[in-house]
Amino acid sequence: MSYSKITLEKKDDNIYYLGFGKYEDKSMNVIYEQTLKEIDMAMDEVALDKEAKGLILFSYKDNCFFAGMDISVIEGLSSEAQAIEGCEAGHAIFNKLEDLKIPTIALVDGTCLGGGLEMILACDKIVASNNSKTAIGLPEVMIGVLPGFGGTYRLPKRVGLTKAMDMILTGRQIRHKKALKMGLVDYVVPKERLMTLGKKYLFEKKVNKKSFKESLTDSVMNSFLTRKLIFQKAREKVLKTTKGFYPAPLKILDHLESSFGDKRARYLAKEAKAFGELSQTKQSKNLQHVFFLHDGSKKLRDGANPSVVSRGAVLGAGTMGGGIAWLFAKNNQAPIMKDISKEGLELGLKQSSSVFKKALKRRRMSKDDFERLQRSISAQLDYNGFKAVDLVIEAVVENMNVKKAVFKELEGEVTKNCILTSNTSSLSIEQMATALEDSSRFAGLHFFNPVNKMPLVEIIKHKNVSDETIDTLYKWTLKVGKTPVVVNDCPGFLVNRILAPFLNEAAFLMEEGVSIKDLDKAAVNFGMPMGPARLMDEVGIDVCSHVGEIMEEGLGERAKASKLSDKCVQAQLLGKKNQKGFYLYDEAGKQLDVNPKVQELLPSKKVKMDEVEIQKRLILPMINEAASILDEGIVDNPGDVDLGLIFGIGFPPFRGGLLKYADSEGLDRILESIKGFSESVSDKRYGPMPYLEKLVSEGKTFYN
Ligand SMILES: NC(=O)c1ccc[n+]([C@@H]2O[C@H](COP(=O)([O-])OP(=O)(O)OC[C@H]3O[C@@H](n4cnc5c(N)ncnc54)[C@H](O)[C@@H]3O)[C@@H](O)[C@H]2O)c1
Repeated sequence: MSYSKITLEKKDDNIYYLGFGKYEDKSMNVIYEQTLKEIDMAMDEVALDKEAKGLILFSYKDNCFFAGMDISVIEGLSSEAQAIEGCEAGHAIFNKLEDLKIPTIALVDGTCLGGGLEMILACDKIVASNNSKTAIGLPEVMIGVLPGFGGTYRLPKRVGLTKAMDMILTGRQIRHKKALKMGLVDYVVPKERLMTLGKKYLFEKKVNKKSFKESLTDSVMNSFLTRKLIFQKAREKVLKTTKGFYPAPLKILDHLESSFGDKRARYLAKEAKAFGELSQTKQSKNLQHVFFLHDGSKKLRDGANPSVVSRGAVLGAGTMGGGIAWLFAKNNQAPIMKDISKEGLELGLKQSSSVFKKALKRRRMSKDDFERLQRSISAQLDYNGFKAVDLVIEAVVENMNVKKAVFKELEGEVTKNCILTSNTSSLSIEQMATALEDSSRFAGLHFFNPVNKMPLVEIIKHKNVSDETIDTLYKWTLKVGKTPVVVNDCPGFLVNRILAPFLNEAAFLMEEGVSIKDLDKAAVNFGMPMGPARLMDEVGIDVCSHVGEIMEEGLGERAKASKLSDKCVQAQLLGKKNQKGFYLYDEAGKQLDVNPKVQELLPSKKVKMDEVEIQKRLILPMINEAASILDEGIVDNPGDVDLGLIFGIGFPPFRGGLLKYADSEGLDRILESIKGFSESVSDKRYGPMPYLEKLVSEGKTFYN
């Protein structure tokens, strides 16, 4: 038999070895349709061999068993029936594996996700390596579906329904220690002994009859009434987290409950049906779109020529500097953190250690690692050691003159190959570049606050920057686990330029008499992580006021800023940082009620506006601004806008991103509404962007 995706070899001892990833020159194994076909043939071949004594599944790849099914296959499913057919084909193959009369064992080193896990759940035993990269899970819920190759049937059998439910609902990835404890794997062994010990374990009797320790919840699941109650509670929890925006978790619960106790054929038929239905939902299609955007962002451009960053430095040890130093340290790139004041250094160290402490507390880090990484940050007041640094990230105060002076000084302290960047959130990168003798190695590198939580990093170009600088920054950003987006210089760059009209329009709505609570509720009901008033409090109303000024200055009358934030700043209402913003906050930062002092700055007569109307007023100006961003070539494509907003401000992923949402709503309708608003306001802030008008007149969408 000839195979192109797998290898199947029978050795002298009559043991079959089924290997994955030998022929592909990629770091990750993915299950393609052809892989499944070949596994199917392999199962027939093994089943027919009367001499076969056992079967070992393994991967040729370092750190990866399987990353899951090829998502473009799921994307290509155009009907429920087609999706069901696909699941049935997968079921038939993995059933063959499960039904083999010989012992079977899977050897897992590294990632084992989705279809990869569903496959090995059909084996008698699973051995995992003690590799820190070993991560096992069923992430299908993240693209709005459920595991459709038997995962919902076999995982509960292996680890119990309670734990399986948690894994399937959250997509959580399980590390080797926990996997062993919960019975997800049967053995954990050193990576280098995986094959030798795996072969030995193949013929050993299973230690536990039941691979999982039954939890209390599992033991009462057999009672119909208790089970009903448990699922009811789970539904309530899901609704609280997803606010009902995501259909998959609820469908998963329905399926797990209704299939409880069913025999394999019936259970799997129900799984296929549930998968088929979910695969065709708008939310799943949108989440798949986001998956592809994110996946695409992980690839360097063709012909990229990045240099290696081994050591970094941060200038300015404030809120951002401390966070960036943490990022370097966490990635074993022992950073230098320089400030002009001791107090600054202390603050920066406190900032980074608070994140490490949380990881320690949650047992995501050992005490040794905590101490080693925290110590690896060298906090200093001079440029000692800067000659050994490959990347400097400047995060000093937001002042062009100060930053230019800092860069001038810095140029004499580093080697000529060192890349220099600024974390400015609002100053012109083009202008800052003029301070440097060699600006080809300079760019903007804009992190979001807090650095440990916010995934997006904007890499900002200017006209003299070299491709090598951008490539290096892109690669480094990926290496430290962030999502990069390359942006040309403009006021607010990508994310803040689009966020600004959202916040600005919110302020105008408040001035029109819409209540703060109604406003925030409308945004949250649209799917935003928080409403605009709450967001302004988080960012700082003074910062918002400053950004508003910059936008108006840079973009003209169409970005005319509301005066509300200025008034708040004058009244010392700065947001969460001084516990007084649009809302009040307690000492611990918990949001209390709306701040009565803000009400004094707003009209006493309240206007009741329809929620959909509020949502339009908030979202359409963002779409309008995004159109001008594309027109000016600030980013290359609509995908960058969507990626930036999802990872930068948490624009709801189930909507696929701002421009995907705009496309699905119909650009002609959106343009019509924008024109309507434009006519209703006395200034020029809703003027429809020519690019949007052009798309509509040509019958096109942002993506097409
Ligand atoms: N805070 C945010 O939410 C946020 C988000 C993204 C970007 N940024 C940007 O990051 C930068 C820093 O912001 P922050 O909020 O961390 O400020 P911060 O005020 O908390 O910290 C600034 C630090 O820079 C130090 N400093 C001043 N002059 C210096 C010099 N010449 N050399 C070395 N250190 C010097 C100060 O002592 C202080 O410790 C700004 O450009 C800001 O726009 C901030």
